[in-house]
Amino acid sequence: SRVVKLAVIPGDGIGPEVVAEAEKVLAAATAGSDVRFEKTRFSLGAARYLETGDTLTDDDLAAIKAQEAVLLGAVGGKPGDERLRDANIERGLLLKLRFELDHYVNLRPSKLYAGAPGPLAHPGEVDFVVVREGTEGPYVGNGGSIRRGTPHEVANETSVNTAFGVERVVRYAFDLAERRDKRVTLVHKTNVLVNAGSLWKRIVDEVSGEHPDVAVDYLHVDAATIFLVTNPGRFDVIVTDNLFGDILTDLAGAVTGGIGLAASGNINPDGDFPSMFEPVHGSAPDIAGQQKADPTAAILSIALMLDHLGLTDEAARVTRAVEADIAARGTSSRTTAQVGDAIVARVQA
Ligand code: NAD
Ligand code: IPM
Ligand code: MN
Repeated sequence: SRVVKLAVIPGDGIGPEVVAEAEKVLAAATAGSDVRFEKTRFSLGAARYLETGDTLTDDDLAAIKAQEAVLLGAVGGKPGDERLRDANIERGLLLKLRFELDHYVNLRPSKLYAGAPGPLAHPGEVDFVVVREGTEGPYVGNGGSIRRGTPHEVANETSVNTAFGVERVVRYAFDLAERRDKRVTLVHKTNVLVNAGSLWKRIVDEVSGEHPDVAVDYLHVDAATIFLVTNPGRFDVIVTDNLFGDILTDLAGAVTGGIGLAASGNINPDGDFPSMFEPVHGSAPDIAGQQKADPTAAILSIALMLDHLGLTDEAARVTRAVEADIAARGTSSRTTAQVGDAIVARVQA
């Protein structure tokens, strides 16, 4: 029998609420199969910082690196919380994990499930994946500010784009498209960000030469937001940089039934480090502690994790249960735990 060592980082706000439901569904989906998840919990996030002053210690990082996968809820406090001003939970914890674990593919599928409450009147069939670069771009933190607080302040964030980093994520996107509908859309802003833009464009053109059966398209990011709303069915695989991918995937979530349904995987395809699975959404301080959060995104992140681990039958059980729940949920208002329990019951059925 196989043992999978899983780090669980519930985090802040609604993180622990949605992770609790995801863990229930994981247990149900693997009951009776010969895989067992051996979980280690890590108390990390804004709450931990306020208690101890730590964001992510070397020991935490080493312990997480020794796992096979990571499940994360959400981290971060209420935007603007003064006590967290110097904590930098997002950079010091979440991005540090993504960078240290070399999660160069941030995989964010968007599928409009039957019965999901999308805002579009005639969405058509919507089923695409955003392959968001996860270790470079403006997120690297190259930059700084001088003369802070004066009228002459200069604040810079440099976008880092390496040929190596762009090529590996672009290759992943084309390989994924080969297994899907064979269409790749590069989203960038090559008309303005000419240096990074031309690197991305050249690499997409090169890799495209090796995939003659994959149709390639290019959109500027602003135009891409139009089509995500007016014609989301035109997309199959979108490949894009770290910041554009962040913005597009909140929009994609809203278009396909709400951010409470949007799952993601931070993948290290080479298997050198554990991959990390988390909802696209954040800690939602506005609804935290009230059992109002939709745990579906966290539960679908379990399906992505099971798939990544090669446990495809277990993954399919979770996805089917979620699909059935979404098809039946209508406008019913349920607590976080009620949604989780209903999905567990469908996994067990
Ligand atoms: P958010 O995603 O937390 O919330 C945006 C809106 O979506 C809120 O109205 C919230 O109530 C709603 N929402 C989010 N998840 C929901 C769910 N599961 N069910 C129902 N409604 C849901 O974004 P924000 O307010 O910009 O960020 C809050 C904090 O979370 C910040 O500290 C931010 O940095 C952090 N954050 C963390 C992650 C992460 O850990 N991966 C991701 C995004 C934001
Ligand atoms: C996300 C979040 C993070 C990001 C933040 C919290 C660093 O918005 O996972 O989408 O920008 O990647
Ligand atoms: Mn985001």
